[in-house]
Amino acid sequence: MRILLVASAFNSLTQRVFAELRDHGHTVAVHLMVGDDQLREAVRGHAPQLVVAPMLKAAVPRDLWSAHTVLIVHPGPPGDRGPSALDWAIHEDARSWGVTVLQADEVMDAGDVWAHVACEVPPVGKSDLYRGEVADAALAAVLLAVERFASRTYTPQPQHGGGWRAADHTRPYLDQGLRRIDWQADPTATVLRKLRAADSQPGVLDRLAGAEWFLHGGHPEDELRGRPGELIATRAGAVCRATVDGAVWIPQLRRRRGRGEPAAVKLPATLALAGQREGHLGELPELPEVPAPLWLPRERRTWSDVVYREQGSVGLLRFVFPGGAMSTEHCRRLLDAYRFALTRPTSVLVLGGGRDFFSNGIHLNVIEAAPDPARESWANINAMDDLVAEILTTTDRLVVAALGGNAAAGGAMLALAADEVWCRAGVLLNPHYRLMGLYGSEYWTYTLPRRVGAAAAARLTRRALPVSAAGAHRLGLVDRVITAPPEGFGSEVDRFAALLAAAPVLQERIAAKKAARERDEALKPLAAYRAEELARMRRTFFDATEPYHALRAAFVRKQPVRRTRPHLAGGRPRPGGGPGAGDRADGAGPSPPAGRSPGWPLRVRRREGGRSKMLGMSIWTPEPEYSQLARPLAEVLESVRASAYEAPHDALGHAQRRADLAVLDALDAATWPASGS
Ligand code: COA
Repeated sequence: MRILLVASAFNSLTQRVFAELRDHGHTVAVHLMVGDDQLREAVRGHAPQLVVAPMLKAAVPRDLWSAHTVLIVHPGPPGDRGPSALDWAIHEDARSWGVTVLQADEVMDAGDVWAHVACEVPPVGKSDLYRGEVADAALAAVLLAVERFASRTYTPQPQHGGGWRAADHTRPYLDQGLRRIDWQADPTATVLRKLRAADSQPGVLDRLAGAEWFLHGGHPEDELRGRPGELIATRAGAVCRATVDGAVWIPQLRRRRGRGEPAAVKLPATLALAGQREGHLGELPELPEVPAPLWLPRERRTWSDVVYREQGSVGLLRFVFPGGAMSTEHCRRLLDAYRFALTRPTSVLVLGGGRDFFSNGIHLNVIEAAPDPARESWANINAMDDLVAEILTTTDRLVVAALGGNAAAGGAMLALAADEVWCRAGVLLNPHYRLMGLYGSEYWTYTLPRRVGAAAAARLTRRALPVSAAGAHRLGLVDRVITAPPEGFGSEVDRFAALLAAAPVLQERIAAKKAARERDEALKPLAAYRAEELARMRRTFFDATEPYHALRAAFVRKQPVRRTRPHLAGGRPRPGGGPGAGDRADGAGPSPPAGRSPGWPLRVRRREGGRSKMLGMSIWTPEPEYSQLARPLAEVLESVRASAYEAPHDALGHAQRRADLAVLDALDAATWPASGS
């Protein structure tokens, strides 16, 4: 079926719906909602049989839902309405919840129900719940609704009337007045609920160290105590704050934006308080750093982002960093913990195993807030590479990466350094860097082709699309897909790891792995992969005109999308028509002119008398960012030239790039004598 996904952002749930519908054989395109007219145009162009909105904050215009079946995914059970569904569920301590797929109608969230699926609500933050139990329920409900729609025999159920009456809960936006924590009265359980209901957005607005902050994340503390509301300790970037009957850990803070100020970025709490670049802010009070033992006793109920334990001859090194972002400091601490794990007499070492993000690579927020973002980027990628190198050179035991949650960019490549990659069935991988304008490191030029082959590696990195767990397994990116709810993933990993450690062929496998590493090292040393990758990364980091810097700034400040990136559109909408013969359904970019590889049109602007004028020419380039940023031609030419020889390409792609470059050169000479001015 031809399905158009309409969403406010290509977020985790939209990505999962996109990847899994494609796994089910559907032709899927994505349109990011920027306005009613653009949506009308997209629907006209794609002529979908079905429109699905996995995460839409705006209403679909009447003329569209009355002419097409538009299915809305609402993260609440039937009868639940309003923009803060999950916030309210956690705020009110619901133990079970659900997701409903309903037909767009006059009243938001009140349309007929195509499918609804219930889910548990464990004590986790809202975004963790959203990416876990809620996403699982949403996928089950969407797939069921699509199947019912395709059958042409199913009649969606009205929420009221006939044999069914859903209880009506239209709840308002959960505002900061309701979220406010009363530190002198709220018990720990209430404080945690309020923090979790606001995690990761919008956070709970509060005063701290003389300034206004949004508090992000909340975890219980079992030993430390203090005067209610007081900050009492720090640990690995988080602050501990006393409540009336205990204390909580708050890992991240975001400064409230003052009038006329740019949006502040969310940072590890101690870093945010220290003010870093914005030195005028409240100083961090003198607080003791109270580290948690790496090998945390099972009965402890405290927060730690890196924990080690053992089970027979299996070592388990669990790490959970907010948003999956790994700063220089995170990488170094994890490397220390990894080195400790290597001193233990185990034969299998499992990395990860937590329920939320495995890793999303270098910490873009910490980089953005650093006094010198280029230097911090450089330090961060080197710290990541040090960690990956240690994993790649572990030859005395098997290393397993266990992904309970999603992984992207360098975080996905971190997983590939392990001997085996296991992931939960609901996991989504984004094994590419280009959307952040980066070539990437983490030894990906060694590990990715080693797993999937050179051609698939080039496709994955160039197309920059999410891959489902099942798709990753088919490609060879993942060795084992574990079907378990998010809460059950850890125990399943324990079970499979014990089986692996007990396997009669284990020692043989370890010996074979050591031999393979030595062979590979003789062919091309790991240091050479690293040096080549880092040379490109260095150029990007230290050149302020590289798209990475603008893309990073937009990402960390959550600048709204202005249009759908062409790699998601799955074929250019054609005025008045459905997909044409040349349109691609695989999201690899719009259809190229005959004889060209898939790519994106690069529009060239000329600056005339301070005004920017679009030249009526375009060439096809594999880099979508360049056309979006509309940078001066000289810069574009430089970047395209530099990147043309960087990514691994098959011979054909390379030849086409050379042809593109020749066109660019001609363009440069013919139309831009004083290029870049
Ligand atoms: N650095 C800092 N923060 C990051 C991050 C990173 N590398 N990756 C994700 N985050 C944060 C997001 O800002 C978001 O923060 P919030 O909780 O304040 O909203 C949170 O983690 C979840 O990410 P989000 O983008 O909302 O989740 P998603 O599931 O919709 O998308 C990704 C996941 C990984 C595709 C997207 O976050 C992304 O592109 N991240 C950047 C990856 C990257 O380029 N890394 C650097 C190169 S190694």
